[in-house]
This record gives sequence, structure tokens and C-alpha cells, in this order.
Amino acid sequence: METALSALLRIVEDPEALAKEGAKLFMDASEQAIAQQGRFSVALSGGSTPGRLFRHLGTAYRKKIAWDRVHLFWCDERCVPRDHEQSNFRLAYDELISRIWIPAANVHRIKGELRPEEAARYYEADMKKHFDEDMPSFDLILLGVGPDGHTASLFPGSEILRERQRLALPVFSDTALHWRVTLTLPALNAARRVLFLVTGRSKAGIVSSLIGRNEVHGFPAALVRPSAGDIIWLLDRDAAAELPEDVS
Ligand code: 6PG
Repeated sequence: METALSALLRIVEDPEALAKEGAKLFMDASEQAIAQQGRFSVALSGGSTPGRLFRHLGTAYRKKIAWDRVHLFWCDERCVPRDHEQSNFRLAYDELISRIWIPAANVHRIKGELRPEEAARYYEADMKKHFDEDMPSFDLILLGVGPDGHTASLFPGSEILRERQRLALPVFSDTALHWRVTLTLPALNAARRVLFLVTGRSKAGIVSSLIGRNEVHGFPAALVRPSAGDIIWLLDRDAAAELPEDVS
């Protein structure tokens, strides 16, 4: 179904069904990219929603995806060591990377153990080298949404929402009270496909603001509009609970 933002909307029963559907979309995108370019470049998110999806990819899809052709990047990272419980890399490592065979050179983590600006610069250089371009064109970007409309580590009111040049920037999270490194809007909006994964009743209000008929008030997630790519919203029933009937 087309939404007000002309994105594709899929609603599934619960978080488990969402993980399965997300894994299928991941595999389809990987097959398409590998057939066209010989590799698949994807940026992962952290938070609680993608964990199940990663586990599903690491088990049911362990042998169904050409992991040696997959390059894993991240949308954002907390400035903590790689084995820290809040590390987005660690989540993906525990649920996915540790279960598959993927060359170490294909895992482009954000080095959260470095100083934030240094980690952002290092990550930008890694992306530019991989894509051989000034702007990365990810085949797929997985994003979540916070109840306040944040996505990746782009928070409402943050000055980095105005960034036009840099691909990754350090940002201090006023709610979590720690530094993070995040992809910027130009990097997100150069993607070929963005997949938002949203579950739970606590997200129903923001989901309705973002993809219902309500006006969008500059929420960071609403600023993700790939210039030459598409957006898929994958929601569970709870997250879709406040969408108007003609949208859902
Ligand atoms: C992070 C994310 C962040 C996340 C949203 C939604 O690392 O925390 O990049 O943007 O996707 O906060 O998180 P949940 O999936 O946990 O609701």
C-alpha cells in the first residue's frame, strides 16, 4: 500500500513475523545487488527491534545468503568498546556475525572505542574507500524510529540535521547521556532502499504522524527521503494501531 509519503507499507502480526519479513526483504535486496554489482552493501541499526531480525538472518538465512559478498556497515554506534552491552556492533555480532561466515574485511564497524570525531572521520574514510565515491550508495539501510521521531542517532532539534557534506558525525545524546557516531541525512538519502522496522504500541503515535495523514513536524525520521531510492515501512500490528484505516 502507498502511504502519504509514497513509501511502501507492510503490516505484519507481531515482532516475530516482522523479523521473518525483514529477513526476506534483506535476502531479496542482497540477491538483486549481488546480481547487479557483485556485492551487497547494507547499513544496520541498533536498538531492540533489529535483534530478532539479525538472529533470523544468522540462523534461517545462514546458508541462503552469499555472506562473502555482503558488506556490513552501521547507521550509528554508541561510543563504547565493541564488546560493551550497548554496542550496536556487539548486538549484530552476537545475533548474526558470529553465526555466519563473512570475511573480516566485509565488516565495517564504527570504532566506538575511539574519540567520537576520530571514529566519525575513520568511518567516513572507510565508506569513501568502499564505494569509491564521495557519497555512499547503500543498497539497503535498516532504520528504527524512536517515539520522539529520532532515527539512527539523528535527534529532534539537533544541529546535525542541517549537515550537507559530512557522511558521519559525532553527536551527544541528551537522553542517553553518551556520545554516538551517526550517518548524516545526506548519507542516508543516497541509499537505494531504506527499510524502517517498527514494533510496539509505544510507537503507534509517531508512526501515525510519520506515515498517516497527519502533518509531519520535521521529525528526523521524516527527513529520510532517498533521492533515488525507495522507502519500505515494515510495522507490526501494535505499531500500526493508530494509522487511519485508508492507510493501513
Ligand atoms: C540505536 C538506533 C536508534 C533506534 C531507535 C529505535 O542504535 O538506538 O540507531 O535510532 O533504531 O531508537 O529503537 P528500537 O528498535 O529499540 O525501538
